Parts: sequence; C-alpha cells; structure tokens
Amino acid sequence: MESPLFVSVARQPEFATSFADAEAFRFGVEDVFAPQKLHFTLQDSHLHFGLRDELVRAMAPAIPMSVLNTHVMAQTARRFVRAFPGDVMYAVKCNPDPIFLRAMYAQGVRRFDVASLYEINLIHTLFPGAPLYFMHPIKAPEAITQAYDQYGVRRFVLDTMDELEKILRATDDANDLELYVRIAVPKGNVATDFSTKFGARPEHAEALLRRTAQHAAHLGVSFHVGTQCTDVSVYANAIAYAAGVIKAAEVDVKTLDIGGGFPTTLDEQNPPLPVETYMQVIREALQAHDCEKFEILCEAGRGLVADAGSLVVRVEGRKGDLLYINDGTYGGLFEAGGAIGLPYPARLIRREANRLGTETLEPFRLAGPTCDSVDMMRGPYMLPTDVQAGDWIALDKLGAYGEVSRTNFNGFGAVHKAVIA
Ligand SMILES: Cc1ncc(COP(=O)(O)O)c(C=O)c1O
Repeated sequence: MESPLFVSVARQPEFATSFADAEAFRFGVEDVFAPQKLHFTLQDSHLHFGLRDELVRAMAPAIPMSVLNTHVMAQTARRFVRAFPGDVMYAVKCNPDPIFLRAMYAQGVRRFDVASLYEINLIHTLFPGAPLYFMHPIKAPEAITQAYDQYGVRRFVLDTMDELEKILRATDDANDLELYVRIAVPKGNVATDFSTKFGARPEHAEALLRRTAQHAAHLGVSFHVGTQCTDVSVYANAIAYAAGVIKAAEVDVKTLDIGGGFPTTLDEQNPPLPVETYMQVIREALQAHDCEKFEILCEAGRGLVADAGSLVVRVEGRKGDLLYINDGTYGGLFEAGGAIGLPYPARLIRREANRLGTETLEPFRLAGPTCDSVDMMRGPYMLPTDVQAGDWIALDKLGAYGEVSRTNFNGFGAVHKAVIA
C-alpha cells in the first residue's frame, strides 16, 4: 500500500511533543524554498484555520504551506454520512490525498466517483474491491476498456447516445453494465453551474434513458446541481425534475444519484443551512416524488472535505487594498480567481506577535505570484488594516479543489505540506 504523501515521519516526534520547539525546525536554515512534509498533532492546530499562529511564526514559511486536518475531515464526513438519506460516494477529484481517502473510508464512505484512469488506479490500489463509478460523461474509449477489463469497473455515466455507443463498443457489448444517464437540471444559486457543460438536455433525456435501458443491466439517473450550492431548494427542484423525466421515460430505473454541490461555509456571518437541513429537504423531496423506491446515492466532494484544509500564504508586497501573496490561481487558489471567485475566510498572522495592530477589518484583494494579470483574487478578504509585507494569511476551507489544482507556472509550484493527524 502506498505510504501517505504528506507525512514526514522524521519530523513527527518533535512536533508531537511541543510546538514551542518549532524554532529549532525553522524552515529555511538551508534552503527557504525547499518544500517540507510535516506531521502535526491536534494540539498544534487552530480552532478553525489549520495551524496555530505561534507555530506559523516560529516556522516562518517562505513558500505557501498547505495544511490538511484529518480530524476535521473525519468529523465532517461522519456528520454527512449520518444525515444523508442514502449512500455517500466521494468525488475523488476534489482531494485525492491518500490521507483523506483513508480517513474517509474509515468514516464509512466506501464508494468512489472517479473521473480518470489515474483516479481509478489510485482507489483500486488503496481499497481493492471498493465500488468505482466512472462518472465523467465524456471518456476516452481506451480508458473505458481499461477500466472495464483491468479494474473491473462496471458503472459508467453518459449523457449522449454517442457516449452510450462508445461504452458499448469499448466493452465489447458487455451485458453487465450499470449505466447512469446524467441529465441537465435547472440552474440554481451555485458557484459553478454544472449543467451547461454536461447533462442530457430536456429534449434528449427521455429518449436517451429509453435507449440506455435496452443495454443496461442496472439503470441509474444522475445529476449535479452545480458546486457550492447555497440554495437547498435547488436540490428539491432537481429531484422533482429528475422524477418527472424517469416517469415520462417509463423505464425501470434502480438508482438515483443526486450528485455533489453541498456547500461549505465561506462567510461565517451568512452561512448556508446546516447539512442536516439540506438532507431533510432532500429526504422530503424524495418522498414527495416517489423516489424512495430507488437506491439513492450522492457524489459529494466539497461538502465532505473543504473544511479540513487550509493554506498559509505570505504577503510579499502591498499596494493599498491589493496584497501580493506567494500563492495564487495557478497554485492552491484556483477557485479564488476568475469566474468562480470564492472569497475564502482569511486570518492575519502578524510577523511579530507583539506588533500593535488593529482589529478593524477591511476588504482586501489578493494578487498571486505569477506575472499573469489574471492571477488575481477579488475576495473580498477581510483582514486588519495593518497587514503588511512579511505577514502571513491563513486561508480556510481549502480542503477541496485547493492543492489538487497546483501547477508550477512561473516556477512557483513549491509548497510545504503539513498534516494534522
Ligand atoms: C461528476 C461530478 N460529481 C461530483 C462532483 C463533486 O462536486 P462537489 O465538490 O460540488 O460536491 C463533481 C465536481 O466537479 C463532478 O464533476
């Protein structure tokens, strides 16, 4: 079995005892830009934002530091699994770190939504025999063949007739396929609408479902309301819509997969409803539309792991409300930029513990380290007015779609990786 990627066993005993010794392990004695892999314990962690401030100051990281907290992850997963009225699948793409995957498995998340052969191989290696759902609607034929022949994958999603034919060809007309027709659902209040790119449109959905039924040993319907869905009524509407499509198609559907989209709290003043309320609304919608006869699944990503990750970045320069930091949209902050623009919760860690600052917060924008002017994050990031070069900022809720998107563009790919376990 592959060993965890982020754990440095060599460092564990020191940090496990006391963070007061952190000075002794100060990054950068030899090379401030050399990535380190570190292991911390719960006592080293801040209530919400990864590592404690004293520890960050003592380590004085010169490159970004990504922090994964397995305790938070386990707690969130436990709560989610308990509340969901069906079986929870994990969308591996949002954080494929084996440490998270193992912690997730331990909490009862035993099915995996995989998008590529890489993810199939990863899960197959970590959890041989775990049910794999190949949920990318448009796949390479070779990937389908390899998934079927080599990894025993039988569950595939599709949203066109062409993809159905591709799956049949690539599996030599297999008769043991579990096929999921992904349908486009009405748009709601989401960070990214997922029905513009994938999902059978209303005018095609029924016919596709009927045709797929002729080839599937087990037929399912799936949808994705869009990620970071802060309006729970979107799920109720999508379930009603899916139930209508299934009824009209008059086919024997066995499974309804309601996708991902479950949100994290980005703004403490304006949090989404608790996960239990989401699940209650979903349960009621399933009852109201006679969907309880189906096996119910979801493919959750962000809602399971976002809370468990944070990122410590350093301010390298300031121009008014614009802070130039050492990480950005080509690194661990992809979703903070561009069209998505998620305003992650931020906390200032002053370089000097005793510097007299102000607690008055004002909105800041962030600029990433690359020379690309789209590498900007509008936020707003609420920080004390005295923030200055040399300070660190801890950004929270980055356990999903954070590290996984990091590139080495402009040579800024180096990152310290820390695990609180
Ligand atoms: C097919 C599919 N399922 C599930 C997810 C997970 O979505 P979320 O992180 O919003 O829960 C995604 C995200 O891209 C996806 O593409």
